[in-house]
Amino acid sequence: MPEQTLYDRLGGEDSIEAVVKQFYGYVMDDDLVNGYFEDVDMQQQVAHQTQFISSVTGGPVEYTGADMRAAHEGMGITTEEFDAIAKHLDTALKDFDVPETEREAVLDEVASYEDDIVGA
Ligand code: HEM
Repeated sequence: MPEQTLYDRLGGEDSIEAVVKQFYGYVMDDDLVNGYFEDVDMQQQVAHQTQFISSVTGGPVEYTGADMRAAHEGMGITTEEFDAIAKHLDTALKDFDVPETEREAVLDEVASYEDDIVGA
C-alpha cells in the first residue's frame, strides 16, 4: 500500500480548510500582524492558503495563487512577524488535535519558504 501523504494524515482539504479558517481568526486578532490584512479579500486568502498547504503537503490540489516571493514582495515582513504567523498556524493545528509529528511537518514545510517571505 502506498504511504499516506502528509495531506492525507491531516485529513485532506476540508480539514485543512477548517485549520486555515481558525488560523486567520488568530491572525486577525493579533495587532502585530493584522494590519497587513486590512484590505485583503479574506475569503480568497483562505481559499489560496488552503490550496497552498494542501499542495505542499502532497495533496492532489492545484495552488492558483502567486508564488511566495511575489505574494509578499514589498511588504517588508520581519522574522518576528513570520514567527508570530507560524505560531498561529501551530495553535490552529493544535486546536484540531493534529498530532505533534504532523504539526512539525507542516511547520517545517512552511519554514522552508521563510526566505521568500521575510524581507521580500
Ligand atoms: C508563515 C508562512 C506564510 C505562508 C505559507 C503564506 C502564504 C500565503 C499565500 C498562499 C498567500 C496568497 C497569495 C495569493 O493569493 O496569490 C499569501 C498572501 C498574503 N500573505 Fe502570506 N504567508 C505566510 C506568511 C505571511 C506573513 C508573516 C505575513 C505578514 C505578516 C503575510 C501576509 C500576507 C498578505 C498581506 C497576503 C495578501 C496579499 C494580497 O492579496 O495582496 N504572510 N500568503
